[in-house]
Amino acid sequence: MSADEDRDPARTIGWGILATGKIARKVAAEVALVPGAEVAAVGSRAAASAEAFAAAYDGPGACTPYGSYEALVADPAVEVVYVASPHALHLEHARLAFEAGKHVLCEKPVTVTVADAEAMVALAREHDRFLMEAMWTATHPVVRALARDLWAGRFGTPSHLHAELGFVVDADPTDRLLDPALGAGAMLDMGIYPLTFAHLLLGEAEQLAATARVSATGIDADIAVTGRYPGGALATMTASLTSHSSRQAFVATDSGRIEVDDFHHPTRATWTPYAAGPDGRPAPGAPEPIEGDEPVIGTGYGNEVAEVGRCLREGLRESPLVPHAQTLVLMRQMEAVLASVGVTYA
Ligand SMILES: NC(=O)c1ccc[n+]([C@@H]2O[C@H](COP(=O)([O-])OP(=O)(O)OC[C@H]3O[C@@H](n4cnc5c(N)ncnc54)[C@H](OP(=O)(O)O)[C@@H]3O)[C@@H](O)[C@H]2O)c1
Repeated sequence: MSADEDRDPARTIGWGILATGKIARKVAAEVALVPGAEVAAVGSRAAASAEAFAAAYDGPGACTPYGSYEALVADPAVEVVYVASPHALHLEHARLAFEAGKHVLCEKPVTVTVADAEAMVALAREHDRFLMEAMWTATHPVVRALARDLWAGRFGTPSHLHAELGFVVDADPTDRLLDPALGAGAMLDMGIYPLTFAHLLLGEAEQLAATARVSATGIDADIAVTGRYPGGALATMTASLTSHSSRQAFVATDSGRIEVDDFHHPTRATWTPYAAGPDGRPAPGAPEPIEGDEPVIGTGYGNEVAEVGRCLREGLRESPLVPHAQTLVLMRQMEAVLASVGVTYA
């Protein structure tokens, strides 16, 4: 496709879904909600899985099923490949896509090591293709509005951020959530969200420290991280494979408190300003909703799909909302924090 055709704002972008697991199904359903996007094809290690996925897909596009990832990336109707395999396989699968001339939206974390993340970014540049980590928190309209307004000073000066994410993983030891060979662990699967949330709201951490409960198989089953950020704000962040987290976040500032439900894809965020009450002491005022400038598409995966489309139509090779440098900073933070608690990946 020529650069001019690339930038045609009216063209439809064909998505190729690589893998047929849980997240692939959810994201494909939200591709269907985005104007100018359609699922052109799906690829699986097993033809029957691809066929079942294509049959269940209820949206625009042919959704041609392929029994291999190689066949998927070779389909000329596929312009961007959504890599939805376990983390440890992302680099191999992104490489397949780049070598076939496709752009890539890669599930988080992009890889399990910094070296592999750097290699993925280098491959995207070498092939002159678009690459974005599927960090949907960063493309969510409410998180974007919250970060913009916090940085602009609307909520005062932040002193403390807390964010927690986790659920009880009740799965077979071979499941990607428990198998170290597939990149299992609370930090890479869930801790990436609190760390990213803090990064978006407070900037790049100046210092991080962690403590963890490491399983017999060598993965972090539970991890707690503290961080110090520019300006002196502090953060506490937890991720867990063994407990039912509230999934909430809050930011306490010198003028009030921000509360975010389901912070990695918020359903609600509120700002409660504090002011002097009748006795002269600070008291909470009426909570105000924090709203995005754009509607949330689906549960928010639609917004990341829309962002990829916007970038491709503008000829960009990375998204300003999830730039490569940010992805690499977060990978470096996770690798360092994990090493400090004795967790490393091959
Ligand atoms: N953005 C989000 O909210 C979100 C949520 C959940 C997960 N994720 C990320 O998405 C990725 C996939 O997560 P998931 O929950 O969808 O995992 P999953 O249900 O286990 O699915 C992973 C899929 O990858 C493919 N695969 C290829 N090689 C595999 C191997 N050796 N072992 C297992 N599966 C293999 C399989 O598809 P085929 O059999 O069709 O080839 C499998 O169905 C992870 O990196 C995860 O961090 C993101």
